Amino acid sequence: MHQKVLILDFGSQYTQLIARRVRELNIFSEIIPFNKAPEDLSPYKAVILSGSPHSVRSEDAPRPDLSKIKGKMPLLGVCFGAQFMAAHYGGKVEASSIREYGRANLKTIHSDDAFLKGIEIDSQVWMSHSDTITELPEGAICLASTADVKNAAYRFQNEETYAIQFHPEVYHSTQGTQIISNFLMDIAGFTGDWTPDAFVEETVAELKETLGDDRVILGLSGGVDSSVAALLLHQAIGSNLHCIFVNNGLLRKNEFEEVLEQYKGFGLNVKGVDASDRFLDALAGISDPEKKRKAIGKIFVDVFDDESKEVEGAKWLAQGTIYPDVIESVSATGGPSATIKSHHNVGGLPDYMKLKVVEPLKKLFKDEVRRVGRSLNMPEDLIGRHPFPGPGLAIRILGDITAEKVSLLQEADAIFIGALKRHGLYDRVWQAGVILLPVQSVGVMGDERTYERCVALRAVESTDGMTADWVDLPYPFLQEVSNEIINRVKGVNRVVYDISSKPPATIEWE
Ligand code: XMP
Repeated sequence: MHQKVLILDFGSQYTQLIARRVRELNIFSEIIPFNKAPEDLSPYKAVILSGSPHSVRSEDAPRPDLSKIKGKMPLLGVCFGAQFMAAHYGGKVEASSIREYGRANLKTIHSDDAFLKGIEIDSQVWMSHSDTITELPEGAICLASTADVKNAAYRFQNEETYAIQFHPEVYHSTQGTQIISNFLMDIAGFTGDWTPDAFVEETVAELKETLGDDRVILGLSGGVDSSVAALLLHQAIGSNLHCIFVNNGLLRKNEFEEVLEQYKGFGLNVKGVDASDRFLDALAGISDPEKKRKAIGKIFVDVFDDESKEVEGAKWLAQGTIYPDVIESVSATGGPSATIKSHHNVGGLPDYMKLKVVEPLKKLFKDEVRRVGRSLNMPEDLIGRHPFPGPGLAIRILGDITAEKVSLLQEADAIFIGALKRHGLYDRVWQAGVILLPVQSVGVMGDERTYERCVALRAVESTDGMTADWVDLPYPFLQEVSNEIINRVKGVNRVVYDISSKPPATIEWE
């Protein structure tokens, strides 16, 4: 088993970032809400206390019991975690006279403590708190200060308990990863044994053990997550993994055929099901985006259900769920609030299917899924594929959907995506696509007036799809794409480029 860090979450917006920074050091971490802390701490080698939207001075602030942790194993408190320990063990936390948000610089540093090894004077750190530690508990010593924050970092002597009021997990703390590494590698003795290869080896062994000779069904979407999940399961159980890849008729041009071939090339036991007509029939006349999603979800379940029945004796349903989908975070009101997203493509399968669920990627972040894909020799074009929404082109055709509109949009989309690849821009963009607008406008082609459709190009940069910026694509590139679409896609005479960011816009138009 890998060495693990337990991150106790007090509801900070940055908790996931702590996990990511820790994972970047090839160390495995688990986020658990503070009020669900495990009784048995033996699987963990160190504990990190996250920040929180709460003030330690408020009545309803979280008050974790650290008696089994502090002084018994390496412990790091971040922001709220630091303030909680200061207040709880006899120090003083007060409302600060100035609000401490944003960048600050470390002015004094106790550099002979292993915790701050290699950290430089003036190193930038990110503050985000309105309380401050004015007095340290007995037995604690200050390790670093900024101009405004006296006890920016401190430790309890004769034990491996450290605390910092700034956020090392935020990129603006320029040496934040170094501090986390000092704590975990040098003080807690982690070796960085969490590598994609090790993950594959361990997960395949676990899957073999859990699944034995059982049959498993997996819905492939053509995306990275379900594909990596399939390859892992395939290594573990071979042809007992039955993959189903449904063509809903709303995929990109030729995608169904090409991806199906690719899957077959991996040796996967995969069945391609072309249900385009069923989806298009169900969508006829529907313009409302949510109704479109519901109709697509329903047909997907029906098709998947029909196909699953063909797999005799199947006991498991595999899903490509990843970590951000399952992390439970703690709400600002103190109670744990489960923010579990259902998996877009296979969410909502009916209960009567009675399949047990297996989710081999549920502890990985997206970039880790990609690293695991590489370790499984998955080709780069599949690993780097842009995200694509489950309802596909249906939510990129504003208004009702017809076969003619789908094929027009597929053509325009193929031109845009093909040009991004040709110009080496595809990997610089997080997601791109074309939207068919419910607008017709006047144009002139040759000597004739036209009255045809308009499409919008959308290309965004993002890390997680939660926020996004439009990409500043070169004008000559946009010109080339526009010409190609207008010349080659019959029925389109106007191309526009979407220059809205999210928020306030969204990535998709529906
Ligand atoms: P928005 O439009 O909300 O999109 O900014 C954020 C990300 O989510 C994708 N998206 C979906 N994915 N089913 C999906 O599987 C959906 O209904 C859906 N709606 C949006 C979108 O493509 C982007 O990556």
